[in-house]
Amino acid sequence: MRVLIYHRDGEAWRDVLRARLPEASVEIAGESGNPQADFLVAWKPPASLFEEQTRLKGIVNLGAGVDALLQNPALPRETPIVKLRDAGMGELIADYVRYGVFHFQRDFDRYRRQQAACEWREFDVVDKDDWGVGVLGLGAIGTRVAEALAADGFPVHGWSRSPKQLETITCHDGDDGLDALLGQVRTLVTLLPDTPATRQIVNRDTLAKLAPGASLINPGRGTLIDEAALLEALGDGEREGEDEGRLRGALLDAFPTEPLAADSPLWTHPRILVTPHMAGPTPLGAAADQVADALAAMARGEPVKTIDPDAGY
Ligand code: GLV
Repeated sequence: MRVLIYHRDGEAWRDVLRARLPEASVEIAGESGNPQADFLVAWKPPASLFEEQTRLKGIVNLGAGVDALLQNPALPRETPIVKLRDAGMGELIADYVRYGVFHFQRDFDRYRRQQAACEWREFDVVDKDDWGVGVLGLGAIGTRVAEALAADGFPVHGWSRSPKQLETITCHDGDDGLDALLGQVRTLVTLLPDTPATRQIVNRDTLAKLAPGASLINPGRGTLIDEAALLEALGDGEREGEDEGRLRGALLDAFPTEPLAADSPLWTHPRILVTPHMAGPTPLGAAADQVADALAAMARGEPVKTIDPDAGY
């Protein structure tokens, strides 16, 4: 089988896949002139690649979210697409979210602001039992994150499009389920795929249903958040305690346009922590095993778990 790679770390991917698939020809997509490949392994490939590669039998998306791929105007939509499922990202993102939940639950956000004013004031700790966390999106990564938070001792509510059952999570679905979740959580975590149904799911209405003083963590997609509504809910960030805005703070890793523009108000807002889409880098080893297995199965004509382009994940 002929495999073509399109990735920022193309050489590393080529080497790990060659080691796992010694029979295959594995090459990096060049400027032009690659022979027709059977499979493309790629992260955000340009449209020109699909215009050149017209005989693809399968595509492996080197990430969990397929939004960028599905928005590619030249994507052959009938070609099976396999995406990474957890592949080591789940643990990294769970660590990121746990950091964020503790940041708010143990008042690190307040202490950071107090330090800037040389102020020594201790806040009472809110019990973990009273700190509900809501995880929107119970795919492989969302489930991993929700279970990690439950293991930490937080009551965790999860929300997904279709009903799910998880032992340690209170699962909700549908519009009513979303409302029920919002009313019970102090931190909301967004791990949904970017689809027409999820865009700006965190908007003025949803934010108004959160308890005052709730916080937001978005390691998912920037498009899930209505930025104007977020800024409005945060207020000017100048006051502490009772007078805080409706939303206490936000930890944001994903933005509709990346890198985040230098003049974005998110950078300088006193209640927003910005990280550069680093919550879940794809670990090469775990992901390479998954990619190699998928390629080998597709080459043998065996069924593989593919995404549904209409659902968007
Ligand atoms: C990263 O954002 C991914 O979708 O894997």
